[in-house]
Amino acid sequence: MAKKPRIVIIGAGMSGLTAANKLYNSTSSKNSFELCVVEGGSRIGGRINTSEFGGDRIEMGATWIHGIGGSPIYKISQEINSLESEKPWECMDGFSSQPKTVAEGGFDLNPSIVEPVSSLFDNLMDYAQGKLMEGSSTAEKVDFCNLALRAFKSCTRNGASSQLSVGSFLRQGLNAYWDSMKDQEELKGYGTWSRKLLEEAIFAMHENTQRTYTSAGDLLTLDFNAESEYQMFPDEETTIAKGYMSIIEHLASVLPPGLIQLGRKVVNIEWQPEIQQSTQMENGHASRPVKIHFFDGSTMLADHVIVTVSLGVLKASIQQDSGMFNPPLPSFKTEAISRLGYGVVNKLFLQLNPSHDRKGDNLDKFPFLQMIFHRPDSDLRNRKIPWWMRRTASLSPIYKTSSVLLSWFAGEEALELETLSDEEIVEGVSTTISSFLSQPHKKLESNSHELCNGKANSIATSKVSEMKFAKVLKSKWGNDPLFLGSYSYVAVGSSGEDLDTMAEPLPKTGNCESNGIPPLQILFAGEATHRTHYSTTHGAYFSGLREANRLLQHYHYVGI
Ligand SMILES: Cc1cc2nc3c(=O)[nH]c(=O)nc-3n(C[C@H](O)[C@H](O)[C@H](O)COP(=O)(O)OP(=O)(O)OC[C@H]3O[C@@H](n4cnc5c(N)ncnc54)[C@H](O)[C@@H]3O)c2cc1C
Ligand SMILES: *[C@@H]1O[C@H](CO)[C@@H](O)[C@H](O)[C@H]1NC(C)=O
Ligand SMILES: *[C@@H]1O[C@H](CO)[C@@H](O)[C@H](O)[C@H]1NC(C)=O
Repeated sequence: MAKKPRIVIIGAGMSGLTAANKLYNSTSSKNSFELCVVEGGSRIGGRINTSEFGGDRIEMGATWIHGIGGSPIYKISQEINSLESEKPWECMDGFSSQPKTVAEGGFDLNPSIVEPVSSLFDNLMDYAQGKLMEGSSTAEKVDFCNLALRAFKSCTRNGASSQLSVGSFLRQGLNAYWDSMKDQEELKGYGTWSRKLLEEAIFAMHENTQRTYTSAGDLLTLDFNAESEYQMFPDEETTIAKGYMSIIEHLASVLPPGLIQLGRKVVNIEWQPEIQQSTQMENGHASRPVKIHFFDGSTMLADHVIVTVSLGVLKASIQQDSGMFNPPLPSFKTEAISRLGYGVVNKLFLQLNPSHDRKGDNLDKFPFLQMIFHRPDSDLRNRKIPWWMRRTASLSPIYKTSSVLLSWFAGEEALELETLSDEEIVEGVSTTISSFLSQPHKKLESNSHELCNGKANSIATSKVSEMKFAKVLKSKWGNDPLFLGSYSYVAVGSSGEDLDTMAEPLPKTGNCESNGIPPLQILFAGEATHRTHYSTTHGAYFSGLREANRLLQHYHYVGI
Protein backbone atom coordinates (compact mmCIF):
# COMPACT_ATOMS: atom_id res chain seq x y z
CA MET A 1 0.00 0.00 0.00
CA ALA A 2 1.31 3.45 -0.89
CA LYS A 3 2.13 5.52 2.16
CA LYS A 4 0.36 8.80 2.67
CA PRO A 5 2.27 11.96 1.82
CA ARG A 6 3.48 13.70 4.96
CA ILE A 7 3.17 17.49 5.10
CA VAL A 8 4.95 19.39 7.87
CA ILE A 9 4.12 23.05 8.42
CA ILE A 10 6.80 25.05 10.24
CA GLY A 11 5.21 27.79 12.34
CA ALA A 12 1.78 28.13 13.96
CA GLY A 13 1.12 31.76 13.04
CA MET A 14 -1.62 33.03 10.75
CA SER A 15 -0.17 31.54 7.56
CA GLY A 16 0.75 28.15 9.01
CA LEU A 17 -2.59 27.65 10.72
CA THR A 18 -4.51 28.77 7.63
CA ALA A 19 -2.61 26.22 5.54
CA ALA A 20 -3.20 23.50 8.14
CA ASN A 21 -6.88 24.39 8.40
CA LYS A 22 -7.33 24.29 4.64
CA LEU A 23 -5.40 21.04 4.12
CA TYR A 24 -7.09 19.32 7.02
CA ASN A 25 -10.58 20.50 6.24
CA SER A 26 -10.29 19.67 2.56
CA THR A 27 -9.05 16.14 3.00
CA SER A 28 -9.70 14.85 6.51
CA SER A 29 -12.70 12.79 5.43
CA LYS A 30 -10.49 11.09 2.87
CA ASN A 31 -7.62 10.69 5.30
CA SER A 32 -5.22 11.49 2.51
CA PHE A 33 -2.28 13.16 4.24
CA GLU A 34 -0.25 12.91 7.38
CA LEU A 35 -0.28 16.50 8.56
CA CYS A 36 1.51 18.25 11.38
CA VAL A 37 2.41 21.76 12.47
CA VAL A 38 5.67 22.29 14.35
CA GLU A 39 6.00 25.54 16.28
CA GLY A 40 9.19 26.71 17.95
CA GLY A 41 7.45 28.80 20.60
CA SER A 42 5.27 27.75 23.51
CA ARG A 43 2.07 29.18 22.05
CA ILE A 44 0.26 29.48 18.74
CA GLY A 45 -0.44 32.80 17.01
CA GLY A 46 3.04 34.01 16.07
CA ARG A 47 2.95 37.75 15.53
CA ILE A 48 -0.61 37.73 16.84
CA ASN A 49 -0.56 37.87 20.64
CA THR A 50 -3.66 39.17 22.38
CA SER A 51 -2.93 39.96 25.98
CA GLU A 52 -4.29 41.78 29.01
CA PHE A 53 -3.06 44.91 30.70
CA GLY A 54 -4.64 47.05 33.38
CA GLY A 55 -7.85 45.07 33.02
CA ASP A 56 -8.11 45.85 29.30
CA ARG A 57 -7.67 43.54 26.34
CA ILE A 58 -4.68 44.62 24.27
CA GLU A 59 -2.72 43.43 21.25
CA MET A 60 1.05 43.00 21.47
CA GLY A 61 1.26 42.37 17.73
CA ALA A 62 -1.32 42.62 14.94
CA THR A 63 -4.00 45.14 15.91
CA TRP A 64 -6.01 46.34 12.93
CA ILE A 65 -8.00 44.81 10.13
CA HIS A 66 -6.71 47.03 7.34
CA GLY A 67 -9.94 47.71 5.47
CA ILE A 68 -12.99 45.56 6.11
CA GLY A 69 -14.23 45.29 2.50
CA GLY A 70 -13.08 41.94 1.16
CA SER A 71 -10.93 41.06 4.14
CA PRO A 72 -11.04 37.35 4.99
CA ILE A 73 -10.08 38.23 8.55
CA TYR A 74 -13.09 40.51 8.85
CA LYS A 75 -15.29 37.79 7.42
CA ILE A 76 -14.12 35.26 10.00
CA SER A 77 -14.47 37.73 12.86
CA GLN A 78 -18.07 38.38 11.79
CA GLU A 79 -18.80 34.67 11.54
CA ILE A 80 -17.45 33.92 15.00
CA ASN A 81 -18.95 37.03 16.51
CA SER A 82 -15.58 38.50 17.51
CA LEU A 83 -16.43 42.10 16.77
CA GLU A 84 -18.28 42.62 20.06
CA SER A 85 -17.11 42.20 23.59
CA GLU A 86 -18.18 42.96 27.14
CA LYS A 87 -14.61 43.39 28.20
CA PRO A 88 -13.02 46.69 27.16
CA TRP A 89 -10.40 46.43 24.43
CA GLU A 90 -7.89 48.46 22.46
CA CYS A 91 -10.42 49.94 20.04
CA MET A 92 -8.70 53.33 19.71
CA ASP A 93 -11.99 55.22 19.51
CA GLY A 94 -9.99 58.35 20.41
CA PHE A 95 -8.77 58.39 16.83
CA SER A 96 -12.18 59.41 15.61
CA SER A 97 -12.49 62.44 17.85
CA GLN A 98 -10.27 65.42 17.13
CA PRO A 99 -6.74 64.66 18.24
CA LYS A 100 -4.88 67.21 20.31
CA THR A 101 -1.74 68.32 18.54
CA VAL A 102 0.89 69.86 20.73
CA ALA A 103 4.36 71.10 19.88
CA GLU A 104 7.34 70.50 22.17
CA GLY A 105 7.33 73.13 24.89
CA GLY A 106 3.57 72.85 25.38
CA PHE A 107 2.15 74.79 22.43
CA ASP A 108 -1.29 73.64 21.37
CA LEU A 109 -1.51 73.83 17.62
CA ASN A 110 -4.54 75.26 15.96
CA PRO A 111 -5.98 73.05 13.20
CA SER A 112 -5.33 75.89 10.77
CA ILE A 113 -1.61 75.16 11.14
CA VAL A 114 -1.81 71.38 11.30
CA GLU A 115 -4.36 70.58 8.63
CA PRO A 116 -2.67 71.97 5.52
CA VAL A 117 0.46 69.97 6.32
CA SER A 118 -1.55 66.85 7.17
CA SER A 119 -3.49 66.97 3.94
CA LEU A 120 -0.30 67.63 1.97
CA PHE A 121 1.17 64.51 3.55
CA ASP A 122 -1.95 62.41 2.95
CA ASN A 123 -2.07 63.50 -0.66
CA LEU A 124 1.56 62.69 -1.23
CA MET A 125 1.09 59.23 0.28
CA ASP A 126 -2.07 58.66 -1.76
CA TYR A 127 -0.12 59.63 -4.83
CA ALA A 128 2.78 57.32 -3.94
CA GLN A 129 0.27 54.51 -3.40
CA GLY A 130 -1.37 55.17 -6.73
CA LYS A 131 -4.66 56.24 -5.19
CA LEU A 132 -4.59 59.83 -6.35
CA MET A 133 -4.73 60.32 -10.08
CA GLU A 134 -4.56 63.34 -12.28
CA GLY A 135 -8.00 64.64 -13.06
CA SER A 136 -9.35 63.75 -9.65
CA SER A 137 -11.36 66.39 -7.87
CA THR A 138 -8.47 67.62 -5.77
CA ALA A 139 -6.62 69.01 -8.75
CA GLU A 140 -4.64 71.46 -6.71
CA LYS A 141 -3.33 68.75 -4.40
CA VAL A 142 -2.32 66.63 -7.36
CA ASP A 143 -0.30 69.59 -8.55
CA PHE A 144 1.90 69.39 -5.47
CA CYS A 145 2.38 65.73 -6.11
CA ASN A 146 3.27 66.22 -9.74
CA LEU A 147 5.60 69.00 -8.80
CA ALA A 148 7.15 66.79 -6.19
CA LEU A 149 7.44 63.92 -8.59
CA ARG A 150 9.04 66.04 -11.28
CA ALA A 151 11.56 67.51 -8.86
CA PHE A 152 12.13 64.06 -7.50
CA LYS A 153 12.71 62.42 -10.88
CA SER A 154 15.00 65.14 -12.15
CA CYS A 155 17.16 65.08 -9.08
CA THR A 156 17.45 61.32 -9.11
CA ARG A 157 17.80 60.96 -12.88
CA ASN A 158 21.55 60.99 -12.71
CA GLY A 159 21.52 58.31 -10.08
CA ALA A 160 19.82 54.97 -10.56
CA SER A 161 16.11 55.51 -11.11
CA SER A 162 15.38 52.26 -9.33
CA GLN A 163 16.58 53.94 -6.16
CA LEU A 164 13.60 56.23 -5.66
CA SER A 165 12.43 56.18 -2.07
CA VAL A 166 9.16 57.19 -0.47
CA GLY A 167 11.18 59.27 1.99
CA SER A 168 12.81 61.44 -0.65
CA PHE A 169 9.57 61.78 -2.60
CA LEU A 170 7.83 63.05 0.54
CA ARG A 171 10.55 65.63 1.20
CA GLN A 172 10.42 66.83 -2.41
CA GLY A 173 6.69 67.28 -1.91
CA LEU A 174 7.25 69.33 1.21
CA ASN A 175 9.75 71.52 -0.65
CA ALA A 176 7.35 72.01 -3.54
CA TYR A 177 4.72 73.05 -1.02
CA TRP A 178 7.03 75.56 0.61
CA ASP A 179 8.02 76.98 -2.78
CA SER A 180 4.37 77.64 -3.54
CA MET A 181 3.70 79.19 -0.12
CA LYS A 182 6.60 81.60 0.02
CA ASP A 183 4.71 84.60 1.28
CA GLN A 184 3.13 83.12 4.38
CA GLU A 185 3.00 85.26 7.47
CA GLU A 186 5.41 84.31 10.26
CA LEU A 187 3.71 82.84 13.31
CA LYS A 188 3.82 84.52 16.67
CA GLY A 189 3.36 83.05 20.10
CA TYR A 190 5.07 79.72 19.62
CA GLY A 191 8.28 80.40 21.48
CA THR A 192 11.28 79.35 19.42
CA TRP A 193 9.11 77.64 16.84
CA SER A 194 8.97 79.34 13.45
CA ARG A 195 6.26 78.51 10.94
CA LYS A 196 8.68 76.54 8.81
CA LEU A 197 10.04 74.56 11.75
CA LEU A 198 6.53 73.75 12.90
CA GLU A 199 5.42 72.69 9.43
CA GLU A 200 8.44 70.49 9.05
CA ALA A 201 7.89 68.93 12.47
CA ILE A 202 4.21 68.24 11.72
CA PHE A 203 5.30 66.62 8.47
CA ALA A 204 7.87 64.57 10.42
CA MET A 205 5.16 63.38 12.80
CA HIS A 206 3.29 61.92 9.83
CA GLU A 207 6.50 60.38 8.55
CA ASN A 208 6.94 58.75 11.93
CA THR A 209 3.45 57.29 11.75
CA GLN A 210 4.32 55.99 8.29
CA ARG A 211 7.44 54.37 9.72
CA THR A 212 5.27 52.34 12.07
CA TYR A 213 2.79 51.46 9.28
CA THR A 214 5.52 50.16 7.01
CA SER A 215 8.18 49.11 9.56
CA ALA A 216 10.75 50.95 7.43
CA GLY A 217 12.84 52.50 10.19
CA ASP A 218 13.97 55.11 7.69
CA LEU A 219 11.59 56.07 4.87
CA LEU A 220 14.62 56.68 2.65
CA THR A 221 14.89 52.88 2.48
CA LEU A 222 11.24 52.38 1.44
CA ASP A 223 10.94 51.79 -2.30
CA PHE A 224 8.80 54.32 -4.16
CA ASN A 225 7.92 52.25 -7.21
CA ALA A 226 6.68 49.28 -5.19
CA GLU A 227 4.52 51.44 -2.93
CA SER A 228 1.75 51.58 -5.54
CA GLU A 229 1.59 47.77 -5.76
CA TYR A 230 0.59 47.43 -2.12
CA GLN A 231 -3.15 46.94 -1.86
CA MET A 232 -5.51 48.01 0.88
CA PHE A 233 -9.03 46.73 1.24
CA PRO A 234 -11.69 49.40 0.93
CA ASP A 235 -13.78 50.76 3.79
CA GLU A 236 -12.77 51.52 7.33
CA GLU A 237 -10.12 49.86 9.44
CA THR A 238 -11.25 48.14 12.59
CA THR A 239 -10.03 46.21 15.60
CA ILE A 240 -11.24 42.83 16.86
CA ALA A 241 -13.15 43.21 20.12
CA LYS A 242 -12.58 39.64 21.32
CA GLY A 243 -8.94 39.91 20.29
CA TYR A 244 -6.96 38.89 17.20
CA MET A 245 -6.28 35.56 18.94
CA SER A 246 -9.95 34.61 18.48
CA ILE A 247 -9.27 34.25 14.74
CA ILE A 248 -6.22 32.09 15.40
CA GLU A 249 -8.13 29.91 17.87
CA HIS A 250 -10.94 29.48 15.36
CA LEU A 251 -8.53 28.30 12.64
CA ALA A 252 -6.84 25.91 15.07
CA SER A 253 -10.09 24.58 16.55
CA VAL A 254 -10.69 22.38 13.48
CA LEU A 255 -7.42 20.52 13.93
CA PRO A 256 -7.33 17.36 16.05
CA PRO A 257 -5.32 17.42 19.29
CA GLY A 258 -1.65 16.65 18.76
CA LEU A 259 -1.56 17.94 15.21
CA ILE A 260 0.09 21.14 16.44
CA GLN A 261 3.32 20.47 18.32
CA LEU A 262 4.64 23.33 20.46
CA GLY A 263 8.23 23.81 21.59
CA ARG A 264 9.54 22.25 18.37
CA LYS A 265 12.13 24.67 17.07
CA VAL A 266 13.52 23.67 13.69
CA VAL A 267 17.27 24.18 13.26
CA ASN A 268 17.87 22.54 9.92
CA ILE A 269 15.99 21.34 6.87
CA GLU A 270 17.75 18.79 4.67
CA TRP A 271 16.33 18.59 1.18
CA GLN A 272 17.19 16.94 -2.14
CA PRO A 273 17.72 19.33 -5.02
CA GLU A 274 19.33 16.48 -6.95
CA ILE A 275 18.76 12.76 -7.13
CA GLN A 276 20.84 11.05 -4.49
CA GLN A 277 19.69 7.45 -4.66
CA SER A 278 22.43 5.95 -2.57
CA THR A 279 22.19 8.26 0.43
CA GLN A 280 18.44 8.09 0.34
CA MET A 281 18.53 4.37 0.78
CA GLU A 282 21.30 4.30 3.34
CA ASN A 283 19.94 6.72 5.87
CA GLY A 284 16.59 5.11 5.58
CA HIS A 285 14.48 7.97 4.46
CA ALA A 286 13.55 5.89 1.52
CA SER A 287 11.18 8.02 -0.42
CA ARG A 288 10.58 11.00 1.89
CA PRO A 289 12.99 13.58 0.56
CA VAL A 290 13.04 16.12 3.39
CA LYS A 291 14.55 15.63 6.85
CA ILE A 292 13.79 18.19 9.54
CA HIS A 293 16.19 18.58 12.47
CA PHE A 294 14.92 20.05 15.73
CA PHE A 295 16.90 21.95 18.36
CA ASP A 296 16.79 18.95 20.71
CA GLY A 297 18.43 16.67 18.15
CA SER A 298 15.27 14.87 17.12
CA THR A 299 14.35 14.58 13.45
CA MET A 300 11.29 14.09 11.31
CA LEU A 301 10.95 13.03 7.67
CA ALA A 302 8.55 14.72 5.31
CA ASP A 303 7.46 14.82 1.70
CA HIS A 304 6.57 18.48 1.86
CA VAL A 305 7.50 21.24 4.26
CA ILE A 306 5.71 24.58 4.33
CA VAL A 307 8.11 27.12 5.81
CA THR A 308 6.27 30.08 7.38
CA VAL A 309 9.03 31.59 9.53
CA SER A 310 9.39 35.36 9.28
CA LEU A 311 11.57 37.14 6.74
CA GLY A 312 13.73 38.16 9.70
CA VAL A 313 14.34 34.53 10.65
CA LEU A 314 15.15 33.71 7.01
CA LYS A 315 17.56 36.67 6.77
CA ALA A 316 19.37 35.51 9.91
CA SER A 317 19.47 31.96 8.64
CA ILE A 318 21.15 32.78 5.32
CA GLN A 319 23.83 34.80 7.09
CA GLN A 320 25.03 31.83 9.08
CA ASP A 321 27.36 29.21 7.67
CA SER A 322 25.22 26.44 9.00
CA GLY A 323 21.99 28.07 7.98
CA MET A 324 18.53 26.57 8.27
CA PHE A 325 18.76 24.80 4.90
CA ASN A 326 21.02 21.99 3.80
CA PRO A 327 22.02 22.38 1.03
CA PRO A 328 21.69 26.16 1.34
CA LEU A 329 18.91 27.93 -0.50
CA PRO A 330 19.70 28.69 -4.14
CA SER A 331 20.90 32.21 -4.86
CA PHE A 332 17.67 33.43 -6.49
CA LYS A 333 16.05 32.85 -3.08
CA THR A 334 18.80 34.25 -0.89
CA GLU A 335 19.07 37.37 -3.04
CA ALA A 336 15.35 38.11 -2.68
CA ILE A 337 15.58 37.44 1.06
CA SER A 338 18.49 39.87 1.45
CA ARG A 339 17.05 42.61 -0.73
CA LEU A 340 13.59 42.83 0.84
CA GLY A 341 13.14 45.00 3.91
CA TYR A 342 12.08 43.77 7.33
CA GLY A 343 11.86 46.24 10.19
CA VAL A 344 11.06 46.45 13.87
CA VAL A 345 7.88 47.96 15.25
CA ASN A 346 7.03 47.78 18.93
CA LYS A 347 4.09 48.83 21.06
CA LEU A 348 4.45 50.40 24.48
CA PHE A 349 1.60 50.33 26.99
CA LEU A 350 1.62 52.38 30.20
CA GLN A 351 -1.03 52.24 32.87
CA LEU A 352 -1.80 55.52 34.62
CA ASN A 353 -1.83 55.32 38.38
CA PRO A 354 -5.31 54.74 39.78
CA SER A 355 -4.84 57.95 41.80
CA HIS A 356 -4.96 59.74 38.50
CA ASP A 357 -8.74 59.78 38.40
CA ARG A 358 -9.65 60.24 34.81
CA LYS A 359 -13.32 59.66 35.02
CA GLY A 360 -14.26 62.54 37.25
CA ASP A 361 -13.05 65.83 35.94
CA ASN A 362 -13.15 66.31 32.20
CA LEU A 363 -9.99 68.32 32.35
CA ASP A 364 -8.25 65.25 33.67
CA LYS A 365 -8.74 63.14 30.59
CA PHE A 366 -5.53 62.17 28.93
CA PRO A 367 -5.89 63.42 25.38
CA PHE A 368 -5.30 61.60 22.13
CA LEU A 369 -1.99 63.36 21.94
CA GLN A 370 -0.10 63.97 18.71
CA MET A 371 3.41 65.10 19.54
CA ILE A 372 5.32 67.57 17.39
CA PHE A 373 8.99 67.27 18.29
CA HIS A 374 12.00 69.30 17.37
CA ARG A 375 14.44 67.41 15.20
CA PRO A 376 16.70 65.03 17.16
CA ASP A 377 19.70 67.23 16.25
CA SER A 378 18.04 70.59 16.86
CA ASP A 379 19.61 73.01 19.30
CA LEU A 380 16.11 74.08 20.26
CA ARG A 381 15.18 70.69 21.63
CA ASN A 382 14.52 69.93 25.27
CA ARG A 383 17.51 67.78 26.13
CA LYS A 384 15.67 65.97 28.91
CA ILE A 385 13.43 64.22 26.40
CA PRO A 386 15.20 60.97 25.47
CA TRP A 387 16.07 60.42 21.80
CA TRP A 388 13.96 57.28 21.60
CA MET A 389 10.78 59.30 22.32
CA ARG A 390 11.58 61.90 19.64
CA ARG A 391 10.37 59.87 16.72
CA THR A 392 7.14 58.65 18.22
CA ALA A 393 4.05 60.31 16.83
CA SER A 394 1.37 59.87 19.43
CA LEU A 395 0.53 58.83 22.95
CA SER A 396 -3.07 58.11 23.68
CA PRO A 397 -5.53 56.06 25.72
CA ILE A 398 -6.48 52.79 24.03
CA TYR A 399 -10.13 53.82 24.29
CA LYS A 400 -11.81 56.97 25.51
CA THR A 401 -12.03 56.16 29.22
CA SER A 402 -9.08 53.79 29.52
CA SER A 403 -6.24 54.39 31.95
CA VAL A 404 -3.90 52.56 29.58
CA LEU A 405 -1.84 54.68 27.21
CA LEU A 406 -0.27 53.40 24.00
CA SER A 407 2.60 54.58 21.85
CA TRP A 408 4.10 52.92 18.73
CA PHE A 409 7.85 52.78 18.01
CA ALA A 410 9.72 51.96 14.81
CA GLY A 411 13.31 51.34 13.76
CA GLU A 412 16.18 52.13 16.12
CA GLU A 413 13.82 53.57 18.69
CA ALA A 414 11.84 50.32 18.73
CA LEU A 415 15.02 48.30 19.27
CA GLU A 416 16.18 50.67 22.01
CA LEU A 417 12.82 50.32 23.77
CA GLU A 418 13.46 46.57 24.10
CA THR A 419 16.62 47.19 26.09
CA LEU A 420 15.24 49.81 28.50
CA SER A 421 14.13 49.06 32.04
CA ASP A 422 10.59 49.94 33.12
CA GLU A 423 12.01 52.75 35.27
CA GLU A 424 13.87 54.28 32.33
CA ILE A 425 10.74 54.12 30.22
CA VAL A 426 8.54 55.73 32.88
CA GLU A 427 11.12 58.45 33.41
CA GLY A 428 11.45 59.17 29.67
CA VAL A 429 7.73 59.19 28.99
CA SER A 430 6.98 61.35 32.06
CA THR A 431 9.57 63.93 31.02
CA THR A 432 8.08 64.01 27.56
CA ILE A 433 4.54 64.40 28.84
CA SER A 434 5.51 67.28 31.08
CA SER A 435 7.15 69.10 28.19
CA PHE A 436 3.98 68.71 26.13
CA LEU A 437 1.16 69.05 28.59
CA SER A 438 2.19 71.22 31.49
CA GLN A 439 3.95 74.26 30.10
CA PRO A 440 2.12 77.51 30.62
CA HIS A 441 1.16 79.21 27.40
CA LYS A 442 3.48 81.67 25.91
CA LYS A 443 1.16 83.25 23.51
CA LEU A 444 0.54 86.75 22.38
CA GLU A 445 -2.84 88.34 22.75
CA SER A 446 -2.87 89.45 19.14
CA ASN A 447 -3.15 87.23 16.10
CA SER A 448 -5.67 85.22 18.03
CA HIS A 449 -6.83 82.96 15.23
CA GLU A 450 -3.42 81.29 15.29
CA LEU A 451 -3.72 80.49 18.95
CA CYS A 452 -5.13 77.54 20.71
CA ASN A 453 -8.71 78.58 21.26
CA GLY A 454 -7.69 80.59 24.28
CA LYS A 455 -8.07 77.55 26.49
CA ALA A 456 -5.49 76.40 28.96
CA ASN A 457 -3.98 73.01 28.29
CA SER A 458 -6.44 70.47 29.55
CA ILE A 459 -4.14 69.02 32.16
CA ALA A 460 -2.93 71.49 34.74
CA THR A 461 0.73 71.58 35.63
CA SER A 462 0.16 70.11 39.06
CA LYS A 463 -1.82 67.22 37.57
CA VAL A 464 0.97 66.32 35.19
CA SER A 465 3.55 66.14 37.90
CA GLU A 466 1.21 63.85 39.81
CA MET A 467 0.80 61.66 36.78
CA LYS A 468 2.42 58.41 37.73
CA PHE A 469 2.46 55.14 35.94
CA ALA A 470 1.49 51.96 37.74
CA LYS A 471 3.02 49.59 35.20
CA VAL A 472 4.56 49.20 31.79
CA LEU A 473 4.27 46.54 29.09
CA LYS A 474 6.10 46.51 25.78
CA SER A 475 6.51 44.13 22.89
CA LYS A 476 9.99 42.89 21.98
CA TRP A 477 9.64 41.62 18.43
CA GLY A 478 13.13 42.69 17.34
CA ASN A 479 15.17 40.50 19.67
CA ASP A 480 12.84 37.51 19.86
CA PRO A 481 14.73 34.77 17.96
CA LEU A 482 11.45 33.39 16.58
CA PHE A 483 10.62 36.69 14.83
CA LEU A 484 13.68 39.01 14.71
CA GLY A 485 11.47 41.93 13.72
CA SER A 486 7.89 42.84 12.95
CA TYR A 487 6.93 42.85 9.28
CA SER A 488 8.31 43.23 5.80
CA TYR A 489 8.48 46.08 3.33
CA VAL A 490 9.85 46.57 -0.15
CA ALA A 491 13.22 48.21 0.41
CA VAL A 492 14.96 50.41 -2.13
CA GLY A 493 16.86 47.98 -4.34
CA SER A 494 14.19 45.27 -4.19
CA SER A 495 10.82 45.06 -5.90
CA GLY A 496 7.50 43.26 -5.92
CA GLU A 497 9.16 40.52 -7.94
CA ASP A 498 11.24 39.61 -4.93
CA LEU A 499 8.02 38.96 -3.00
CA ASP A 500 6.91 36.58 -5.76
CA THR A 501 10.33 34.92 -5.65
CA MET A 502 9.87 34.42 -1.90
CA ALA A 503 6.78 32.34 -2.69
CA GLU A 504 8.45 29.99 -5.20
CA PRO A 505 8.68 26.40 -4.00
CA LEU A 506 11.84 24.30 -4.15
CA PRO A 507 13.24 22.56 -6.05
CA LYS A 508 12.47 25.07 -8.79
CA THR A 509 9.38 23.86 -10.61
CA GLY A 510 9.93 22.37 -14.03
CA ASN A 511 13.09 20.55 -12.98
CA CYS A 512 11.33 17.85 -11.09
CA GLU A 513 8.89 15.51 -12.74
CA SER A 514 11.12 14.98 -15.75
CA ASN A 515 14.24 13.89 -13.92
CA GLY A 516 12.88 12.13 -10.89
CA ILE A 517 13.57 14.75 -8.22
CA PRO A 518 10.70 14.77 -5.70
CA PRO A 519 8.69 17.96 -6.35
CA LEU A 520 7.43 20.60 -3.89
CA GLN A 521 9.83 19.65 -1.12
CA ILE A 522 9.95 23.11 0.41
CA LEU A 523 7.08 25.54 0.07
CA PHE A 524 7.04 29.07 1.45
CA ALA A 525 4.17 30.92 3.07
CA GLY A 526 3.98 33.92 5.41
CA GLU A 527 3.27 37.61 5.03
CA ALA A 528 6.58 38.24 3.23
CA THR A 529 5.54 35.93 0.38
CA HIS A 530 2.51 37.95 -0.75
CA ARG A 531 3.16 40.48 -3.47
CA THR A 532 0.30 42.89 -2.77
CA HIS A 533 -0.77 42.22 0.84
CA TYR A 534 2.62 41.68 2.51
CA SER A 535 3.05 42.82 6.13
CA THR A 536 -0.53 41.99 7.13
CA THR A 537 -2.50 39.20 8.75
CA HIS A 538 -4.65 38.81 5.66
CA GLY A 539 -1.51 38.62 3.50
CA ALA A 540 -0.34 35.78 5.77
CA TYR A 541 -3.79 34.17 5.49
CA PHE A 542 -3.80 34.32 1.68
CA SER A 543 -0.29 32.90 1.53
CA GLY A 544 -1.31 29.92 3.69
CA LEU A 545 -4.27 29.22 1.43
CA ARG A 546 -2.06 29.54 -1.64
CA GLU A 547 0.40 26.90 -0.46
CA ALA A 548 -2.33 24.56 0.78
CA ASN A 549 -3.97 24.83 -2.64
CA ARG A 550 -0.66 24.21 -4.37
CA LEU A 551 -0.41 20.84 -2.60
CA LEU A 552 -4.09 20.03 -3.06
CA GLN A 553 -3.73 20.66 -6.76
CA HIS A 554 -0.57 18.60 -6.93
CA TYR A 555 -2.50 15.66 -5.48
CA HIS A 556 -5.44 16.42 -7.76
CA TYR A 557 -7.88 17.62 -5.15
CA VAL A 558 -8.94 20.28 -7.55
CA GLY A 559 -11.96 22.39 -6.93
CA ILE A 560 -12.09 21.69 -3.21
C1 LIG B 1 3.73 45.11 16.48
C2 LIG B 1 3.02 44.52 15.30
C3 LIG B 1 1.86 45.11 14.84
C4 LIG B 1 1.18 44.61 13.73
N1 LIG B 1 0.02 45.19 13.34
C5 LIG B 1 -0.70 44.63 12.35
C6 LIG B 1 -1.98 45.13 12.04
O1 LIG B 1 -2.46 46.07 12.68
N2 LIG B 1 -2.68 44.55 11.02
C7 LIG B 1 -2.17 43.49 10.30
O2 LIG B 1 -2.85 43.00 9.39
N3 LIG B 1 -0.94 43.00 10.59
C8 LIG B 1 -0.21 43.54 11.60
N4 LIG B 1 1.01 43.01 11.92
C9 LIG B 1 1.60 41.97 11.05
C10 LIG B 1 1.00 40.58 11.30
O3 LIG B 1 1.05 40.31 12.67
C11 LIG B 1 1.83 39.57 10.54
O4 LIG B 1 1.91 39.94 9.17
C12 LIG B 1 1.26 38.15 10.57
O5 LIG B 1 0.75 37.82 11.83
C13 LIG B 1 2.36 37.20 10.15
O6 LIG B 1 1.91 35.87 10.14
P1 LIG B 1 2.88 34.75 9.57
O7 LIG B 1 2.17 33.44 9.66
O8 LIG B 1 3.40 35.16 8.25
O9 LIG B 1 4.17 34.76 10.52
P2 LIG B 1 4.32 34.52 12.10
O10 LIG B 1 3.14 35.00 12.83
O11 LIG B 1 5.64 35.08 12.44
O12 LIG B 1 4.36 32.93 12.21
C14 LIG B 1 5.55 32.21 12.05
C15 LIG B 1 5.71 31.22 13.20
O13 LIG B 1 6.93 30.50 13.02
C16 LIG B 1 7.50 30.25 14.28
N5 LIG B 1 8.93 29.98 14.08
C17 LIG B 1 9.92 30.85 13.79
N6 LIG B 1 11.10 30.22 13.69
C18 LIG B 1 10.85 28.91 13.90
C19 LIG B 1 11.66 27.74 13.92
N7 LIG B 1 12.97 27.80 13.69
N8 LIG B 1 11.08 26.55 14.17
C20 LIG B 1 9.75 26.46 14.41
N9 LIG B 1 8.93 27.54 14.41
C21 LIG B 1 9.48 28.75 14.15
C22 LIG B 1 7.22 31.52 15.06
O14 LIG B 1 7.26 31.27 16.45
C23 LIG B 1 5.82 31.88 14.57
O15 LIG B 1 4.82 31.37 15.41
C24 LIG B 1 1.69 43.47 13.05
C25 LIG B 1 2.85 42.85 13.52
C26 LIG B 1 3.52 43.37 14.63
C27 LIG B 1 4.75 42.67 15.11
C1 LIG C 1 -14.68 22.92 6.01
O1 LIG C 1 -14.98 23.51 4.77
C2 LIG C 1 -16.35 23.49 4.45
C3 LIG C 1 -16.50 23.97 3.03
O2 LIG C 1 -15.81 25.16 2.82
C4 LIG C 1 -17.10 24.33 5.44
O3 LIG C 1 -18.47 24.35 5.14
C5 LIG C 1 -16.87 23.76 6.81
O4 LIG C 1 -17.47 24.60 7.76
C6 LIG C 1 -15.41 23.64 7.11
N1 LIG C 1 -15.26 22.92 8.34
C7 LIG C 1 -14.58 23.38 9.30
C8 LIG C 1 -14.55 22.51 10.50
O5 LIG C 1 -13.99 24.45 9.23
C1 LIG D 1 2.85 37.73 24.36
O1 LIG D 1 2.36 38.63 25.30
C2 LIG D 1 2.76 38.38 26.64
C3 LIG D 1 2.22 39.49 27.47
O2 LIG D 1 0.97 39.18 27.88
C4 LIG D 1 4.25 38.36 26.79
O3 LIG D 1 4.61 37.96 28.09
C5 LIG D 1 4.85 37.40 25.79
O4 LIG D 1 6.25 37.53 25.84
C6 LIG D 1 4.36 37.76 24.41
N1 LIG D 1 4.93 36.88 23.44
C7 LIG D 1 5.57 37.33 22.42
C8 LIG D 1 6.15 36.31 21.52
O5 LIG D 1 5.68 38.52 22.15
